[in-house]
Amino acid sequence: MAQRFHLFLFLILFVNLICFSSQQDLSFVYNGFNQDRTNLHLDGSAKFQDGLLQLTNATTQQKDHAFYNRPFDFSSASSHSISFSTHFVCALVPKPRSDGGHGIAFVLSSSMDLTQADPTQYLGLFNISTNGSPSSHVLAIELDTVLSAEFDDIDKNHVGIDENSLQSVVSASASYYSDREGKNKSLKLLSGDRIQVWIDYEDTLLNVTLAPFKNQKPSKPLLSRTINLTAIFPDRKAFIGFSAATGSLISYQYILGWSFSRSRVLLQSLDISNLPKVPRPKKPDETSHLLIAILVLLAIVVIAVLGGFYIYRRKKYAEVKEPWEKEYGPLRYSYESLCKATRGFNKDGRLGKGGFGEVYKGTLPLLGDIAVKRLSHGAEQGMKQFVAEVVTMGTLQHKNLVPLLGYCRRKGELLLVSKYMEGGSVDQYLFHGDKPPLSWSQRLAILRDIASALCYLHTGASQVVLHRDIKASNIMLNGNLQGFLGDFGMARFDDHGANLSATAAVGTIGYMALELTSTGTSTRTDVYAYGAFMLEVTCGRRPFDPELPVEKRHLVKWVCECWRKGSILNAIDTRLRGKFVPGEVEIVLKLGLLCTSIVPDARPNMEQVVQYINRHQRLPEFSPDTPGIGVSTPVLMGIPSLAITSSSVASSVSARSASLSSANNSMFISHTIIYGDGR
Ligand SMILES: *[C@@H]1O[C@H](CO)[C@@H](O)[C@H](O)[C@H]1NC(C)=O
Ligand SMILES: *[C@@H]1O[C@H](CO)[C@@H](O)[C@H](O)[C@H]1NC(C)=O
Ligand SMILES: *[C@@H]1O[C@H](CO)[C@@H](O)[C@H](O)[C@H]1NC(C)=O
Ligand SMILES: *[C@@H]1O[C@H](CO)[C@@H](O)[C@H](O)[C@H]1NC(C)=O
Ligand SMILES: *[C@@H]1O[C@H](CO)[C@@H](O)[C@H](O)[C@H]1NC(C)=O
Repeated sequence: MAQRFHLFLFLILFVNLICFSSQQDLSFVYNGFNQDRTNLHLDGSAKFQDGLLQLTNATTQQKDHAFYNRPFDFSSASSHSISFSTHFVCALVPKPRSDGGHGIAFVLSSSMDLTQADPTQYLGLFNISTNGSPSSHVLAIELDTVLSAEFDDIDKNHVGIDENSLQSVVSASASYYSDREGKNKSLKLLSGDRIQVWIDYEDTLLNVTLAPFKNQKPSKPLLSRTINLTAIFPDRKAFIGFSAATGSLISYQYILGWSFSRSRVLLQSLDISNLPKVPRPKKPDETSHLLIAILVLLAIVVIAVLGGFYIYRRKKYAEVKEPWEKEYGPLRYSYESLCKATRGFNKDGRLGKGGFGEVYKGTLPLLGDIAVKRLSHGAEQGMKQFVAEVVTMGTLQHKNLVPLLGYCRRKGELLLVSKYMEGGSVDQYLFHGDKPPLSWSQRLAILRDIASALCYLHTGASQVVLHRDIKASNIMLNGNLQGFLGDFGMARFDDHGANLSATAAVGTIGYMALELTSTGTSTRTDVYAYGAFMLEVTCGRRPFDPELPVEKRHLVKWVCECWRKGSILNAIDTRLRGKFVPGEVEIVLKLGLLCTSIVPDARPNMEQVVQYINRHQRLPEFSPDTPGIGVSTPVLMGIPSLAITSSSVASSVSARSASLSSANNSMFISHTIIYGDGR
């Protein structure tokens, strides 16, 4: 019996010992929640996921709890000897671009059943009737991420110690003491980053310490407060665990690891580096941000490319436009349209190249074929007057004038647009051999056409217009071989643009009357050039041809010589093969001689010329010996920047004439000759 009793006693003692020691040793560590978690009691939507203890899952009005299912029992200890230590890692992950809420708390509670508690600011710890009531038997360390004014919260990122009430006995903004820097550093609870929390209770003092993940435990706690545990838990036991809640503000709230012990010394350390990772909520915004960034970048690139293209175009198609040009608006063409019309001034479309510039064929949608003359010039000086003149000429209307359609001005360049003449210029027929020779009747018709056009310029327009550069290459033909006078006024335009004034005389050798060097251009100098042209067309050779024997070199002189010898018809173009009307030829040759008289007053005016050439009036009587008839004018040579005084013209220039190159088909002087009157 006694033996039995002893055994019984021993058993009781043994069981007691086990119970006692197990209570004494309430100590556990969860390095993540993958393994044995049978001792953990969850409620609400709390769950284990990927080694994490997920308390809330970012849906509204959640209150979730996780408790260790054995209570922390301190019944055997005196008030002063109660102690515990816990270390856990949590993460509060807000939904992207939202504030997040409400918070997480470490709880000591007499009951594991907190299902009657409310979410939102109550953090799943209390409800309106239990909050502040000593019968709640709850001690909580809250990590609160919402400012609830009713509980005197200090901010929306604070840590507090709650004794039976959400009105914390003590609270502080989340921060930690950096031992390295020797100062407090703030910590954002809702950063989504992992945060370490230590709660130590010893000798009635409750310390709460926070630190970022992977930091050492700071030497100074964030909160330190005397707490009478036996007053809160008269039963001297409490379940330990976590509570978390959401409201309309939501976040994911996780516990990653948790260690608990009755004593700070025995607390097992967490294996920080092996704790699970916190899933970052997918941020549709982030991808859309990226997308937007890419789009913006793309847009910038596109804008840059377009901008570059625009600047390139602007540069390419840049024009010079001045206020005074407004009145010429309709006559002004954009460089771009001309560029397009001529396919970028394609070499294939080049009609010719002269001293003034190059001529290109082009096509405009409404006007059809056009010829664009590109004239380069350096200075803008005198441009206004020149453009005005050109435009004025553009307004001239005569059936034998090449219609000038308009112009365009760029830096250092002027472009003139005229109708394209499919027949080409007369010199092509006379000299180049690339066109069939013209018959006498065609030649006479062309001479009559040009006489009529020149007569119109001199008398028909509202003001006298001088052509200044009549020559075979400026007489254009259409498809029916009708003659058109083109390029009027062009002679005023020189390469340097510096002398567009009336004192500048520019023309073509053999077409220039002698008095040009003294009295300047006049209708009579135009008549002279026309006379030279008449002879040229009839005789089929240039007014001056250095290749020929001396006596034939000057056409005027030679025709006169033929006449003096009694056979003026000998001067006619051999390519006509005798097919001509002798009477007509004779009149034309004699009229040509009369027009090229060296005495300006002896020349007929254009009205008379038209009368004579149309045989409406008889030529005046004159002979090869009439003074001024058949006298050749000195030939000027293309010498750069030639500036000759009137006295020196005859001697110095004629001396050089022999060396004039025959290759220079147009025998064209593009340099200004300045008269001696101003020098
Ligand atoms: C969150 O948990 C609740 C309760 O378990 C569930 O109904 C809901 O679908 C969960 N939401 C998400 C986003 O997982
Ligand atoms: C508050 O919770 C207690 C239990 O903890 C419950 O008896 C009471 O009905 C709840 N009150 C409200 C208003 O929910
Ligand atoms: C709590 O912090 C204070 C210093 O603020 C320290 O003296 C005390 O030892 C700490 N107690 C625990 C249990 O860590
Ligand atoms: C750091 O914070 C603690 C707790 O809030 C406070 O007592 C202490 O004075 C602060 N120290 C510094 C250096 O700011
Ligand atoms: C703690 O509270 C209990 C019960 O209210 C009381 O008996 C005890 O004296 C208190 N201890 C301290 C240290 O205040």
